[in-house]
Amino acid sequence: MSKRKKVTVVGAGNVGATCAQVLATRDYADVVLVDIKEGLPQGKALDINQMGAVLGYEPYVVGSNGYEESSGSTVVVITAGLPRSPGMSRDDLVSTNEKIVKDVTEKVIAQSPDAILIVVSNPLDAMCHVAKNVSGWPKERVFGMAGILDTARFSTFISWETGSSVKDVQAMVLGGHGDQMVPVVSATTVGGIPLRKLVAEDRIQAMVERTAKGGGELVNLLGTSAWYAPGAAAAQMVDSIVLDEKRVLPCTAYLEGEYGIEGLYMGVPVKLGASGIEQIVELDLSDDEKAALEKSSAAVREVVGVLTT
Ligand code: NAI
Ligand code: 2OP
Repeated sequence: MSKRKKVTVVGAGNVGATCAQVLATRDYADVVLVDIKEGLPQGKALDINQMGAVLGYEPYVVGSNGYEESSGSTVVVITAGLPRSPGMSRDDLVSTNEKIVKDVTEKVIAQSPDAILIVVSNPLDAMCHVAKNVSGWPKERVFGMAGILDTARFSTFISWETGSSVKDVQAMVLGGHGDQMVPVVSATTVGGIPLRKLVAEDRIQAMVERTAKGGGELVNLLGTSAWYAPGAAAAQMVDSIVLDEKRVLPCTAYLEGEYGIEGLYMGVPVKLGASGIEQIVELDLSDDEKAALEKSSAAVREVVGVLTT
């Protein structure tokens, strides 16, 4: 291993391997890919290393079925667990993935006691509670990826609807990572112009609805859940932490009174830097958005209520 920082991705399936691939192309850290399936992390690591020779980057990616190689990681991304199949909600995965996330968290923290944990496994908000409870780590160092993905979906639809570059769309999706998520239209602009000045309300509501059901749309097409945008979204969080970028990104953070929500993981804008979550940003929401966030928090609480960890 080199002297660069180390990022571990647990779960070398669709999302984990995509995340590792994006991180390798970013070229600022070594990447360790861990999975229980023999050969899978080793094979994907080898393939990603060889891709570097084509694309011109110099990653050092290691695949393993154990955790020794992950020791001393700066960030660990947990993508281990079952994905959704058609007809399944994210919440249907709760008991299987709870056991997996518990097991993975125990092994990760034994090797990397100072790391920052990014949870991706579903049901996302509940799995963040599992990682926090098992690790006993402060909330600043245990959080989840969902909002960047949900916001990317909303931004894509807005870009298509307005015929504008997605680079000029500034959007934000808050709440739990379920069908009750809250695209915040009041905080959404295209080139600085509020969305409501550019697009009729019925078209906006159609995009809000498609975003909230965006995961299911992909499951129906693919027969499993999405991975390109999810893997890249997790990598964007790693960038902000390892490079201390202090980006304000929608992430699943433990709330203690912010947005009127107590003791629950939910998607909110946070400032992400070398210490993890350095600030929770509180947006001014409309009354409708506040009510929607409340509804979303009730849905998350229901799933968290069935956890045994
Ligand atoms: P996948 O099935 O392609 O990969 C999961 C990998 O986890 C498999 O290779 C499996 O062998 C591994 N695994 C299972 N148990 C393990 C353990 N105890 N230790 C180490 N590895 C283990 O699934 P995919 O598509 O990569 O999805 C992974 C998870 O991410 C799912 O729970 C999915 O629902 C979730 N997801 C979350 C998103 C979000 O926005 N938060 C977006 C997309 C997926
Ligand atoms: C997604 O939103 C299923 O959480 C996964 O694509």
